Amino acid sequence: MAQATAPSFSNPRPKLAYSREGTPLPERVAAYPELRYMGSKQRLLPWIHDVLAPLQFDSALDPFSGSGCVAYLLKTMGKRVVATDFLRFSSHLAKAAIENNRHHLDGPAIKALLRERRSKAAGFVERTFAGVFYTVEDLRFIDRVSTNILRVSNPYQQSLARSALVRSCLKRQPRGVFTVSGDLSKYDDGRRDLRLSIEEHFLEQIEVFNGVVFDNGRRNYACQADVFDSRPVKVRSCISRSAVRTPSRRQLLHQALPLPRRVVLLLERRRNRLHNENQEDS
Ligand SMILES: C[S@@+](CC[C@H](N)C(=O)[O-])C[C@H]1O[C@@H](n2cnc3c(N)ncnc32)[C@H](O)[C@@H]1O
Repeated sequence: MAQATAPSFSNPRPKLAYSREGTPLPERVAAYPELRYMGSKQRLLPWIHDVLAPLQFDSALDPFSGSGCVAYLLKTMGKRVVATDFLRFSSHLAKAAIENNRHHLDGPAIKALLRERRSKAAGFVERTFAGVFYTVEDLRFIDRVSTNILRVSNPYQQSLARSALVRSCLKRQPRGVFTVSGDLSKYDDGRRDLRLSIEEHFLEQIEVFNGVVFDNGRRNYACQADVFDSRPVKVRSCISRSAVRTPSRRQLLHQALPLPRRVVLLLERRRNRLHNENQEDS
């Protein structure tokens, strides 16, 4: 396999190389659950890994983390990963699996998530989706767990629970989550996933998501962000909270004024001269 050289000033564009046989993926990648996510790169992970493996780099930003599988691959490769997406559900997946290095859903947390609530009034999910998606029991369960999740104080456990609930909902549906609704009996091909209730799926998915948690020895970071809204200051402050040190005043000035003052003045003078010449011509 051709070796790619590390990026440097003299060689700013390393030639990307990958082996046709494929270098084995880190074993942990196999634990990451499939999410039927549109545009997911899960099946391309071996290729992405082949491309990235020869490159020397320490940290990676995945600003469109989606299902989280690419960010997870990077985490298993020992990189410090920052994963963001503008969808809340994606950012919970990333918080649960990428930023989270050690928290699991343990017995007390699971008990709190399953706690029955007294209210007889239908919750938002039941009111909105009865007759459209799932059975009434499933919808009540989603309402119950969604309410209980808000009472879980550990943000990593919250994200694990949300991830488990989302995957339970999509496994219970025969096709893409929102493409079919109402009476789905014609899609019933005897699959186990269609026979289990969302509650049964949820208990299984808790195990699945507990199984993806590991510590790669790095301070990874996940958040919900629109990449085009993230002005440098916002991104810096959001990352600096937990992943990197706050940049010094000198670093900030350097970023704000990347060109030497002398060069900026020369460019300004040239622009003004051209502007004046254009006005004289017209
Ligand atoms: C093709 S999908 C996900 C790809 C991801 N690597 C995977 O394998 O699942 C692209 C993602 O980009 C996110 N996205 C699109 N525009 C965005 C934006 N302006 N800021 C942040 N995320 C955005 C979408 O929410 C979606 O999750």
